[in-house]
Amino acid sequence: MTSPDMRLSGSIDVKVEIVAGRFPIVLIDGFYANPDAVREFALARRYGHRQGLYPGTHEFLYEGLTPSNEHERQVLDARVLVCRVLRDLSRLPLEVADLRTDFSLVTTPARRLNKFQKHPHFDETPLLGIVYLNNPSMGGTVIYRNKPLGLVGLLTAQDRQAYERWLMESAPDRSIDSYVLDDPENWDPVYQIEGRYNRFAAYPGFILHWPQCTAVPELFDPHKARLTQRFLFRKIGGGPGA
Ligand SMILES: [Fe+2]
Repeated sequence: MTSPDMRLSGSIDVKVEIVAGRFPIVLIDGFYANPDAVREFALARRYGHRQGLYPGTHEFLYEGLTPSNEHERQVLDARVLVCRVLRDLSRLPLEVADLRTDFSLVTTPARRLNKFQKHPHFDETPLLGIVYLNNPSMGGTVIYRNKPLGLVGLLTAQDRQAYERWLMESAPDRSIDSYVLDDPENWDPVYQIEGRYNRFAAYPGFILHWPQCTAVPELFDPHKARLTQRFLFRKIGGGPGA
């Protein structure tokens, strides 16, 4: 079998945008040299892993530091690049060993989302990146302010508890039939990351965000699903992981 082509672009252009006056979003357009090949490879994977509240399924990629073939080397190259770019920008002590990556497919039609999936969420990971792999785009990521709490980012344990309490006790559980969040009473969109093909975007996991998704067919077809590659830091710096 020939090795899948997951080579990175020869040159990259990194942009940083600031959301709500304080939260950085890192953008790299043209992340892979051959995104069609990455997409083709991704769609041929098995999937099956589910994690947290993600409305879909994941396929993990190489997590080691000593690749034994060309494919593993290319996955490691991508992890090294993501780690280097984010470390240089943030000055956080990020380590490649703490960065894992997967392909993710949204599989759940909006009308089957549970109450917690119907609202923006925060991620356990302190920092994550996403490469959007649909052409044309099937939607990016929208960052929201929760209006009752006045919060975009959950910076402290108290913020997090307040948000979890709001979700449990006050959040509505309306029936919805699209991934377009229409709840102006509770949510104010503050920034939209356009899900351009072959775009990498990184943001802190503690900001409230929502995967905008143009369509999820009832009868699942991976070729018509929103496909991303995620890069997730288990932790930042030394010490035990979460
Ligand atoms: Fe997320």
